[in-house]
Amino acid sequence: MGIHELSIDHFLSLDEAQCEQRIIAAKAALGKRLVMLGHHYQREEVFKHADYSGDSLKLSRQAAQSEAEYIVFCGVHFMAEVADILSRPEQKAILPDLAAGCSMADMANLETVEQAWRELSAVLDADEHITPITYINSAADLKAFCGRHGGIVCTSSNAGRVLEWAFSQREKVLFFPDQHLGRNTGYSMGIPLEEMVNWDFDRPNGGLTEENIKKAKILLWDGFCSVHQQFLPEHIDQFRATYPNGKVVSHPECSFEVCQKSDEVGSTESIIKTIKASPPGTRWLVGTEVNLVNRLAQQSQSEGKLVHYMAPFVCMCSTMYRIDPQHLLWTLENLMAGKIVNQIKVLPEMAEQARLALERMLAVSP
Ligand code: 13P
Ligand code: SF4
Repeated sequence: MGIHELSIDHFLSLDEAQCEQRIIAAKAALGKRLVMLGHHYQREEVFKHADYSGDSLKLSRQAAQSEAEYIVFCGVHFMAEVADILSRPEQKAILPDLAAGCSMADMANLETVEQAWRELSAVLDADEHITPITYINSAADLKAFCGRHGGIVCTSSNAGRVLEWAFSQREKVLFFPDQHLGRNTGYSMGIPLEEMVNWDFDRPNGGLTEENIKKAKILLWDGFCSVHQQFLPEHIDQFRATYPNGKVVSHPECSFEVCQKSDEVGSTESIIKTIKASPPGTRWLVGTEVNLVNRLAQQSQSEGKLVHYMAPFVCMCSTMYRIDPQHLLWTLENLMAGKIVNQIKVLPEMAEQARLALERMLAVSP
C-alpha cells in the first residue's frame, strides 16, 4: 500500500509555537538526511530553522555541496530548481509552498526569449555576436537556453565577473530578465548608458531599430523586481538631509538612480558584510527587502550601529513570504512519514543544458 500524504489542511490552523516545537522535532528526527537552506528574505519564524542561510550564489553552492537526501529550500521556485540541477540525481529538492515564485523571473519566458533571439538573428548572427546572460532569477528552461547558446547565468554577487566573461566570448550581451542589475553592473564596468538599450519584450524587435541593435553593447530585457523598484532617489535625499553622515547601501535590483545615489551596491550577502564591517556608530539606510533589513536592524543594534529602511512603507517579497512555518512543518512531517511533497524536478535534458550555464558561472565567481 502507498504512503498517504498528510494533508496541509491539518497544519494551517496550527499556531507559531506549535509549529516551532514540531519543526525542531522533525529536523532532529530527519537528522543528516535533511538540509534546510534559507534565503535572507525569509520571515524570521522560518529563517531561524535554516541550517545554512545566504544569497542566491551562496545557497546554490551549498546545494551543490550538500550530502543530504532532502534539500528543503526556503526561498523561491527558481532557487529550488537550481538546487535540483546542481545536486546529485538521488537528492530531492523541495519547495515548501509551490506558490513561492518570483514575479521578476516570470517576466521572461522561453517563448519570448527565443522570439528575441530570432529577431536579433535577422539583424546579425546572434550566436556569433551575442552572449546571452540570464539572472539566476529565471526559470530552468532559460538557463538551458543560455547553456546551448554559449551563455551563462549570473547572480547579483557575480554579475561583474560574468559580464567580463561574456564579453571575452562575444562583443554583445542579451541580459534577462532584470534590466536594473544589467544596467547597474554594465555602468560600473564603464559601459555608457547609451550603449545599453532596453528590449521591450511586448514589441516587435524589442521596440528597437536595426541601428539601435547594432550600436548596443548590452540589450537589457525590460524586466524588474516589483519590490526593489519601490525604492526611490528621494528616499535617499530625505535620509541624507536628516543624517548627513549616514551611509546608503542598496541591492543592484534597485533603479540606476537609486544605485548611483548609494555609497555601496551589493547582493543580500554583501549588504550584510558591508554593515558588519562598518565601525560602531555608523548609521545605514538599506534598500532591500524588509525581512532582511529588520533582521539587520536588530543584529546591528548590539554592535552600536543603526539601520534604517529605505522606503516609508513596507516593501515585502510576497512570494518569499509564502513559505510559512505551517507549510514547512507539513513538508518535514511528510518526509518523516516517508512521503516527499512539493519536489522540484527539472527534466534531465533541460537540467543538463542549464547546468552548463550554471557551471560556467560558478567557474568565474569569486
Ligand atoms: P541575492 O542574490 O542578493 O540573494 O538576491 C536574490 C533576490 O531575489 C533579490 O531580490
Ligand atoms: Fe523576485 Fe524581487 Fe522577490 Fe527577489 S525580491 S524573489 S527578485 S520578486
